[in-house]
Amino acid sequence: MKNARLIRIALASLVGLAVAAGIAWWQVNSAARMTSTGLPPLGGPFTLVDHTGRTVTQADFGPVLRLIYFGYTYCPDVCPTELSAMAGALDRLGADGSRVQPLFISIDPARDTVPHMAEYVPLFHPRLIGLTGSAEQVAAAARAYRVYYAKAQNGGTTDYLMDHSSFVYLTAPDGTVKTVFPAKTTPEAMAEGIRKQL
Ligand code: NI
Repeated sequence: MKNARLIRIALASLVGLAVAAGIAWWQVNSAARMTSTGLPPLGGPFTLVDHTGRTVTQADFGPVLRLIYFGYTYCPDVCPTELSAMAGALDRLGADGSRVQPLFISIDPARDTVPHMAEYVPLFHPRLIGLTGSAEQVAAAARAYRVYYAKAQNGGTTDYLMDHSSFVYLTAPDGTVKTVFPAKTTPEAMAEGIRKQL
């Protein structure tokens, strides 16, 4: 009955292959569905108010790359860490750092007023520009970059934390995203990633 056993093994292999092929077909098709019905492209235009009180758009920073982070000045840990990494990356780029404009976009405009942003951004880098605006302006900018943010605690009118996603975006002057750096990217790795796009 050795033959019967071989036939069973062969049949089992065929079934296995068919299942694998089916899974592969399904994966390819769902990937195609996602790209065709798809999400809007990441990044895009915004209108915000800089830390000197000037209304600006994504087009107002010249023919240089933009290094963008969304966060808030009252953030106890994550935002300062990421802003420091951005500053460290720019410093590591030396003279090429001038071809990158760092931007910090507030997702907490109720507390991140223009004067408050003006005090905060120089703590990280002399060229860092802070951007805030109306709740609607901030929401539109965050939507373009698919940034999630929400009030995490309601301890009072001024005492609360914000939940927010944490990515550093490197974009072209037209707002196209070139690279996304995940949270905790080191200044060295960020500088290397930027250099590839310069
Ligand atoms: Ni934060």
